[in-house]
Amino acid sequence: MTKYSALKGIQDIFPPEIYIWQRVEKVARDVFSAYGFQELRAPIIESTDIFIRSIGETTDIVEKEMYTFSDKAGRSITLRPEGTAPVVRCYVENHLYNLPSPQKFFYSGPMFRYERPQKGRLRQFYQIGVEAFGVKEPKIDAEILSMLRLFLEKAGLRGLNLEVNSIGCEKCRPDYKKALQDFFSGRIDGLCPDCRRRYKYNPLRILDCKVDACINLRQGAPKVMNFLCNGCREHFDTLLSLLSLLNIPYGINPDMVRGLDYYTRTTFEVTSVELGAQNAVAAGGRYDKLVEEFGGPPTPAIGFAIGMERIVTLLRTPTLNQTVQGELRTKYPKVFIATIGTPAEKEGLIIADRLREKGIWVELGYKGNSLKSQLRKADRLGAEYALILGDDEISSGMVKWKRLSDGSGGEILISDILNFFLT
Ligand code: HAM
Repeated sequence: MTKYSALKGIQDIFPPEIYIWQRVEKVARDVFSAYGFQELRAPIIESTDIFIRSIGETTDIVEKEMYTFSDKAGRSITLRPEGTAPVVRCYVENHLYNLPSPQKFFYSGPMFRYERPQKGRLRQFYQIGVEAFGVKEPKIDAEILSMLRLFLEKAGLRGLNLEVNSIGCEKCRPDYKKALQDFFSGRIDGLCPDCRRRYKYNPLRILDCKVDACINLRQGAPKVMNFLCNGCREHFDTLLSLLSLLNIPYGINPDMVRGLDYYTRTTFEVTSVELGAQNAVAAGGRYDKLVEEFGGPPTPAIGFAIGMERIVTLLRTPTLNQTVQGELRTKYPKVFIATIGTPAEKEGLIIADRLREKGIWVELGYKGNSLKSQLRKADRLGAEYALILGDDEISSGMVKWKRLSDGSGGEILISDILNFFLT
């Protein structure tokens, strides 16, 4: 027989770990709503162009990592590698810019990147992301970072580092790009093949390359901070002062160039030393030009995305976090109804419905099983109570109950069952 398994780099998520996911998702919803973010559900598939245009032709994602295929009509379709481009497409297509600004959205769901799987790096991974449109002041950058901090705190994560940077705008970035090209011009031969290509189109990406030779060759490269125009400098300085005002600890990382080309000005990452090479838990930044590039009016925007698997990995690390260990406990039914005979079976179904309407988890025994084997099943499922119903019980309107943990028990009127479990 063929044994099927999930595709490489793709994980199943099931109980009890799913309880952590559900709680973290709830924390995100609650925190984000307090900041006025509302949910937006964009599709998982989009026209390939949308990602090439926004993420950038010479990025790793577009060059190597997209799940792209032709649909039956020959259109090029891509499984979303990230959530910002689809949200911007939705914002522009639906003229959401006509609504009062700022418009603030959050989303969650799977993203797909054909990367080499390793610890913390999957081919299908989940993000919870946020995008805010229409504000150019750094005040909203600070609000977004305060929201991210509150989310991480409430999710139960400690000891994370926030790194911020500014990568300039369309005015000052060309000068920086030119300075980088000048710097690397005598070093091209030593760069990896990817960086040799990046040199021409996207020299900032050389700063992010993980190849040892490139790491060595970039020592002493010009720093973006020295090239920021007055507007970008002021934006960044104001953001830093607001972070201090809100007591948000941060470090400046001038080498942090993100793997997506749409960013302008502020970029940031939250990292954990516990995660190894793939250490970013969340990341984001401003993308003040993207709405325009998608055909909308000039609209500044900023957002971030949190990597769910990485959050859950940290929460599952016992030395870091004791509180979630309880969440990993398997959940058990409250009531198991064991029945003998058809009339009792029917009555059992009715009782189960009444209890379930009140939100009580009820399991039933199934045909052909003796009372003994039904009770054994109740035990194995970990049910707290068993209710036992046979012909005698039906005729007397009573039901036997048993608490499985200590064997105690008794009889109650069928009509009293709800009271019994609800009080
Ligand atoms: P990103 O840095 O590509 O940004 O991804 C954000 C987060 O998703 C990362 O920090 C990481 O936690 C998680 N992540 C990324 N790739 C993988 C992977 N292969 N396996 C597991 N987790 C992964 C974005 O996607 C931007 N759209 C964020 C953004 C929103 N910027 C502005 N708005």
